[in-house]
Amino acid sequence: MVAPTTQSTSGSVPPSVFTLPHTAQLEALYTIIRDKNTSRGDFLFYSDRIIRLLVEEGLNHLPVLPKTVETPTGAIYEGVGFEGKICGVSILRAGEAMEAGLREVCRSVRIGKILIQRDEETTQPKLFYSKLPQDISQRYVLLLDPMLATGGSAMKAVEVIMEHGVPEERIIFINLISSPEGLKNFSTKFPNLRVITGWIDQGLNEKAYIVPGLGDFGERRYCS
Ligand code: URA
Repeated sequence: MVAPTTQSTSGSVPPSVFTLPHTAQLEALYTIIRDKNTSRGDFLFYSDRIIRLLVEEGLNHLPVLPKTVETPTGAIYEGVGFEGKICGVSILRAGEAMEAGLREVCRSVRIGKILIQRDEETTQPKLFYSKLPQDISQRYVLLLDPMLATGGSAMKAVEVIMEHGVPEERIIFINLISSPEGLKNFSTKFPNLRVITGWIDQGLNEKAYIVPGLGDFGERRYCS
Protein backbone atom coordinates (compact mmCIF):
# COMPACT_ATOMS: atom_id res chain seq x y z
CA MET A 1 0.00 0.00 0.00
CA VAL A 2 1.34 3.43 -0.95
CA ALA A 3 1.29 6.10 1.76
CA PRO A 4 -1.13 8.95 1.07
CA THR A 5 0.38 12.28 0.09
CA THR A 6 -1.56 14.25 2.67
CA GLN A 7 -1.01 13.90 6.35
CA SER A 8 -3.78 13.00 8.66
CA THR A 9 -4.54 16.33 10.27
CA SER A 10 -3.33 16.69 13.84
CA GLY A 11 -4.73 18.12 17.06
CA SER A 12 -8.40 17.63 17.74
CA VAL A 13 -9.06 16.25 14.26
CA PRO A 14 -9.67 12.49 14.13
CA PRO A 15 -6.83 10.39 12.65
CA SER A 16 -9.11 9.08 9.88
CA VAL A 17 -9.47 12.61 8.46
CA PHE A 18 -7.12 13.89 5.74
CA THR A 19 -7.06 17.41 4.33
CA LEU A 20 -5.59 18.68 1.08
CA PRO A 21 -2.32 20.59 1.56
CA HIS A 22 -3.33 24.19 2.25
CA THR A 23 -1.30 25.86 -0.46
CA ALA A 24 -1.86 29.47 -1.49
CA GLN A 25 -3.43 28.16 -4.70
CA LEU A 26 -5.95 26.04 -2.84
CA GLU A 27 -6.79 28.95 -0.56
CA ALA A 28 -7.35 31.15 -3.63
CA LEU A 29 -9.74 28.56 -5.09
CA TYR A 30 -11.69 28.44 -1.85
CA THR A 31 -11.78 32.23 -1.64
CA ILE A 32 -13.47 32.33 -5.05
CA ILE A 33 -16.11 29.73 -4.27
CA ARG A 34 -16.86 31.19 -0.82
CA ASP A 35 -17.39 34.70 -2.23
CA LYS A 36 -21.13 35.42 -2.44
CA ASN A 37 -20.47 37.65 -5.48
CA THR A 38 -18.88 34.86 -7.53
CA SER A 39 -20.90 34.11 -10.68
CA ARG A 40 -22.42 30.68 -11.21
CA GLY A 41 -20.01 30.06 -14.09
CA ASP A 42 -16.99 30.75 -11.92
CA PHE A 43 -18.46 28.74 -9.06
CA LEU A 44 -18.80 25.76 -11.40
CA PHE A 45 -15.30 26.13 -12.80
CA TYR A 46 -13.46 26.61 -9.52
CA SER A 47 -15.43 24.10 -7.49
CA ASP A 48 -14.69 21.58 -10.27
CA ARG A 49 -10.99 22.29 -9.86
CA ILE A 50 -11.18 21.55 -6.14
CA ILE A 51 -13.26 18.42 -6.73
CA ARG A 52 -10.62 17.14 -9.12
CA LEU A 53 -7.91 17.63 -6.49
CA LEU A 54 -10.03 15.85 -3.89
CA VAL A 55 -10.73 12.88 -6.15
CA GLU A 56 -7.03 12.53 -6.98
CA GLU A 57 -6.28 12.58 -3.27
CA GLY A 58 -8.97 9.99 -2.61
CA LEU A 59 -7.32 7.71 -5.16
CA ASN A 60 -4.03 8.05 -3.26
CA HIS A 61 -5.66 6.08 -0.46
CA LEU A 62 -6.38 3.03 -2.58
CA PRO A 63 -4.07 0.05 -2.25
CA VAL A 64 -1.65 -0.93 -4.99
CA LEU A 65 0.34 -4.06 -5.75
CA PRO A 66 3.81 -4.39 -7.30
CA LYS A 67 3.62 -4.51 -11.10
CA THR A 68 6.49 -4.95 -13.54
CA VAL A 69 6.27 -3.69 -17.14
CA GLU A 70 8.61 -3.50 -20.11
CA THR A 71 9.04 -0.01 -21.60
CA PRO A 72 9.48 0.69 -25.36
CA THR A 73 13.24 0.94 -24.71
CA GLY A 74 13.26 -2.71 -23.73
CA ALA A 75 14.00 -1.84 -20.12
CA ILE A 76 12.09 -3.30 -17.21
CA TYR A 77 10.23 -0.91 -14.94
CA GLU A 78 9.18 -2.11 -11.53
CA GLY A 79 6.11 -0.09 -10.63
CA VAL A 80 2.70 -0.65 -9.12
CA GLY A 81 -0.83 -1.22 -10.32
CA PHE A 82 -4.14 -0.51 -8.64
CA GLU A 83 -5.51 -3.39 -6.62
CA GLY A 84 -9.24 -3.89 -6.72
CA LYS A 85 -12.11 -2.14 -8.37
CA ILE A 86 -13.72 1.12 -7.36
CA CYS A 87 -17.05 2.86 -7.74
CA GLY A 88 -18.51 6.21 -6.78
CA VAL A 89 -21.68 6.84 -4.80
CA SER A 90 -23.11 10.35 -4.82
CA ILE A 91 -25.51 11.66 -2.21
CA LEU A 92 -28.25 13.46 -4.13
CA ARG A 93 -28.49 16.13 -5.16
CA ALA A 94 -25.32 18.08 -4.40
CA GLY A 95 -23.09 14.99 -4.61
CA GLU A 96 -23.97 14.62 -8.28
CA ALA A 97 -21.84 17.69 -8.91
CA MET A 98 -18.78 15.61 -8.00
CA GLU A 99 -19.48 12.77 -10.43
CA ALA A 100 -17.88 14.45 -13.44
CA GLY A 101 -14.65 14.98 -11.48
CA LEU A 102 -14.53 11.28 -10.68
CA ARG A 103 -15.26 10.30 -14.29
CA GLU A 104 -12.46 12.56 -15.52
CA VAL A 105 -9.88 10.54 -13.64
CA CYS A 106 -11.46 7.08 -13.62
CA ARG A 107 -12.64 6.13 -17.07
CA SER A 108 -15.98 4.23 -17.18
CA VAL A 109 -16.27 4.23 -13.41
CA ARG A 110 -19.60 2.97 -12.09
CA ILE A 111 -21.51 5.50 -10.03
CA GLY A 112 -24.41 4.79 -7.70
CA LYS A 113 -26.78 7.29 -6.14
CA ILE A 114 -28.42 7.69 -2.76
CA LEU A 115 -31.20 10.13 -1.83
CA ILE A 116 -31.59 10.87 1.86
CA GLN A 117 -34.00 13.40 3.31
CA ARG A 118 -35.21 14.36 6.72
CA ASP A 119 -38.16 12.31 7.92
CA GLU A 120 -40.73 14.91 8.97
CA GLU A 121 -42.10 12.67 11.74
CA THR A 122 -38.87 11.50 13.35
CA THR A 123 -36.63 14.41 12.13
CA GLN A 124 -34.00 11.74 11.42
CA PRO A 125 -32.33 11.27 8.01
CA LYS A 126 -34.30 8.72 6.00
CA LEU A 127 -33.39 6.78 2.89
CA PHE A 128 -35.71 7.68 0.00
CA TYR A 129 -33.92 6.10 -2.96
CA SER A 130 -30.77 4.19 -3.73
CA LYS A 131 -29.30 2.67 -6.86
CA LEU A 132 -25.95 1.04 -6.25
CA PRO A 133 -23.70 -1.10 -8.47
CA GLN A 134 -24.75 -4.73 -8.12
CA ASP A 135 -21.24 -5.84 -7.18
CA ILE A 136 -20.57 -2.95 -4.79
CA SER A 137 -19.52 -5.36 -2.02
CA GLN A 138 -16.42 -6.20 -4.06
CA ARG A 139 -15.46 -2.58 -4.70
CA TYR A 140 -13.82 0.35 -2.96
CA VAL A 141 -16.39 3.12 -2.66
CA LEU A 142 -15.72 6.83 -3.07
CA LEU A 143 -18.65 8.51 -1.34
CA LEU A 144 -19.34 11.98 -2.77
CA ASP A 145 -21.04 14.85 -0.96
CA PRO A 146 -19.64 18.39 -1.08
CA MET A 147 -20.55 19.63 2.41
CA LEU A 148 -20.20 17.73 5.70
CA ALA A 149 -22.39 19.74 8.09
CA THR A 150 -23.97 17.67 10.90
CA GLY A 151 -23.01 14.43 9.16
CA GLY A 152 -26.55 13.01 9.34
CA SER A 153 -27.00 12.29 5.62
CA ALA A 154 -23.47 10.99 5.13
CA MET A 155 -23.78 8.64 8.11
CA LYS A 156 -27.07 7.30 6.79
CA ALA A 157 -25.50 6.84 3.35
CA VAL A 158 -22.62 4.88 4.88
CA GLU A 159 -25.09 2.64 6.72
CA VAL A 160 -26.85 1.90 3.43
CA ILE A 161 -23.56 1.12 1.67
CA MET A 162 -22.43 -1.12 4.54
CA GLU A 163 -25.76 -2.97 4.43
CA HIS A 164 -24.81 -3.82 0.84
CA GLY A 165 -21.70 -5.60 2.13
CA VAL A 166 -18.98 -2.93 1.89
CA PRO A 167 -16.79 -2.79 5.01
CA GLU A 168 -16.06 0.60 6.54
CA GLU A 169 -12.37 0.38 5.60
CA ARG A 170 -13.28 0.26 1.92
CA ILE A 171 -15.28 3.49 1.92
CA ILE A 172 -13.59 6.87 1.36
CA PHE A 173 -15.75 9.94 1.93
CA ILE A 174 -14.78 12.96 -0.16
CA ASN A 175 -16.07 16.46 0.52
CA LEU A 176 -15.06 20.09 -0.07
CA ILE A 177 -15.81 21.57 3.34
CA SER A 178 -16.38 19.92 6.73
CA SER A 179 -17.57 21.23 10.05
CA PRO A 180 -15.68 20.03 13.14
CA GLU A 181 -19.00 18.79 14.59
CA GLY A 182 -19.76 16.74 11.49
CA LEU A 183 -16.28 15.24 11.43
CA LYS A 184 -16.52 14.30 15.10
CA ASN A 185 -19.95 12.67 14.71
CA PHE A 186 -18.88 10.88 11.57
CA SER A 187 -15.55 9.54 12.74
CA THR A 188 -16.88 8.52 16.16
CA LYS A 189 -19.40 6.31 14.37
CA PHE A 190 -17.03 5.14 11.63
CA PRO A 191 -13.45 5.37 12.98
CA ASN A 192 -11.99 3.26 10.16
CA LEU A 193 -13.58 5.16 7.30
CA ARG A 194 -11.25 7.69 5.72
CA VAL A 195 -12.51 11.21 5.12
CA ILE A 196 -10.79 13.41 2.55
CA THR A 197 -11.79 17.02 3.01
CA GLY A 198 -10.52 20.17 1.37
CA TRP A 199 -11.11 22.46 4.33
CA ILE A 200 -12.30 22.22 7.93
CA ASP A 201 -14.34 25.31 8.80
CA GLN A 202 -15.24 26.94 12.12
CA GLY A 203 -18.59 25.33 12.83
CA LEU A 204 -22.32 25.38 12.16
CA ASN A 205 -24.81 28.22 12.51
CA GLU A 206 -28.34 27.90 13.93
CA LYS A 207 -29.63 26.72 10.54
CA ALA A 208 -26.95 24.00 10.37
CA TYR A 209 -25.06 25.80 7.61
CA ILE A 210 -21.29 25.61 7.75
CA VAL A 211 -19.57 28.91 8.65
CA PRO A 212 -17.82 30.63 7.02
CA GLY A 213 -18.81 28.00 4.44
CA LEU A 214 -20.11 28.90 1.01
CA GLY A 215 -23.88 28.85 1.52
CA ASP A 216 -26.03 26.20 -0.10
CA PHE A 217 -23.78 24.27 -2.47
CA GLY A 218 -26.67 22.93 -4.56
CA GLU A 219 -28.24 26.38 -4.95
CA ARG A 220 -24.95 27.95 -5.97
CA ARG A 221 -24.14 25.19 -8.40
CA TYR A 222 -27.50 24.70 -10.04
CA CYS A 223 -29.63 27.80 -9.46
CA SER A 224 -27.92 31.17 -9.05
N1 URA B 1 -25.15 21.98 2.80
C1 URA B 1 -24.77 23.08 2.12
O1 URA B 1 -24.97 23.18 0.92
N2 URA B 1 -24.16 24.08 2.80
C2 URA B 1 -23.92 24.01 4.12
O2 URA B 1 -23.36 24.94 4.69
C3 URA B 1 -24.34 22.86 4.82
C4 URA B 1 -24.95 21.85 4.14
